[in-house]
Amino acid sequence: IWDSLAAEDIITAREALEGPMLPILHAMQAHFGCIPEEAIRLIATRLNLTRAEVHGVVSFYHDFRRAPAGRHVLKLCRAEACQSMGSEANAAHLLHRLGLGWGETTPDGRLTVEAVYCLGLCACAPNAMLDGEVHGRLDAGALESLAMEVL
Ligand code: FES
Repeated sequence: IWDSLAAEDIITAREALEGPMLPILHAMQAHFGCIPEEAIRLIATRLNLTRAEVHGVVSFYHDFRRAPAGRHVLKLCRAEACQSMGSEANAAHLLHRLGLGWGETTPDGRLTVEAVYCLGLCACAPNAMLDGEVHGRLDAGALESLAMEVL
């Protein structure tokens, strides 16, 4: 739930930093679970930026969410090594099966599927991370089974 006083405090505590935008966004996400539109508006006003500029930063960094995540978060690696091992086709298959797009959450709020760009385990590609735990060598079937564990 949006709380403008809390959001103001988050900004006040960080606006004097050099490059305050990322620390503010991280703190907003920690507090609200995502970066709501109201936060973007407020950050823009307080840092003297346009809303488009703040939007640009939020969408550039894949860690920031525009909507709260589901109870479980599955991050699929889309970086080069995983791509070369078929990660894109596996991801497309899973997203299709779940009826989701990147960054979306199942209607029951159980699972959010997000992109990540390298989990540092390229030798075991293709990789994914479920609730912070990395899983390697995931073909389409294994990836689907992994998702089904929490559905
Ligand atoms: Fe996927 Fe490195 S490219 S883990």
